[in-house]
Amino acid sequence: MRHNERVQEEFTRQGESFRDSPALGAVEITSRIASALGDGYDRVLDIACGPGILFPTLSSCARAVVGIDLTLKSLQLAQEVESAGSKFLVRGLSEKLPFRSGAFDAVVLRLALHHFLDPTAALASARSALRPGGRLVVLDLLAPDNAEARALRDALERFRDPSHTTLLSREEMHDQIQQAGFEVPVETLWTQRREFSEWARIIHEPRRMSDLKLVLDALAKSPGDPAGLDLSSEGDELWFTYHWGLFAAAAAQ
Ligand SMILES: C[S@@+](CC[C@H](N)C(=O)[O-])C[C@H]1O[C@@H](n2cnc3c(N)ncnc32)[C@H](O)[C@@H]1O
Repeated sequence: MRHNERVQEEFTRQGESFRDSPALGAVEITSRIASALGDGYDRVLDIACGPGILFPTLSSCARAVVGIDLTLKSLQLAQEVESAGSKFLVRGLSEKLPFRSGAFDAVVLRLALHHFLDPTAALASARSALRPGGRLVVLDLLAPDNAEARALRDALERFRDPSHTTLLSREEMHDQIQQAGFEVPVETLWTQRREFSEWARIIHEPRRMSDLKLVLDALAKSPGDPAGLDLSSEGDELWFTYHWGLFAAAAAQ
């Protein structure tokens, strides 16, 4: 199966459960986006917008929000989201945005780059859609620093969701953002403790998730945190840590 078909298969099945995840809609995250973005914009673009979880936040920053996504189901769910101001939805690829250059004042990519085969092309396309001086906000999970932990982590993520490609490290985020034509990004890093059962529910594939639970239970007992997840068991529940990075930068003039 080709990658973009896999993406659509995953997000057609995951659509509602992804939208309903309390961890992904947490105010702790959306408030960071709002303050990194600023407000008073005319048009903001949400690249790989999924079911539109960020639309209420983005619509408080801009008169119009445009969401683009490859998966029709994501766009159908995003259409149902109530948000202030105007909302437009477009089906398309992040790597080849169908907008005139300089059309947007701000662009957001959350949990998007790690699904792309070519994150460099997506950032370059985001730069071209932004006016000079426009604002870019990228939020994603960060790869562990250790190479072995990183490889294992990507393998586990791909087992959970085969449309995962690869996590970028903090340094790679900086490099890729600047190489795409942005100024040096200002970063904010934080951690989020996640509950396995909630994380697994999003995927909506019980068999795959019970296999993954077996693997993670075993990893929780191994010394040295091999996947960089800081796994711990509490009763029947397994907990782990997400390392988030938010990178905000202006499009170079
Ligand atoms: C993990 S969801 C993130 C949704 C949203 N950004 C959020 O954080 O709530 C990933 C979304 O990216 C979309 N996607 C993945 N690859 C894409 C691509 N190359 N172009 C456009 N959309 C893509 C998927 O269809 C899915 O809706």
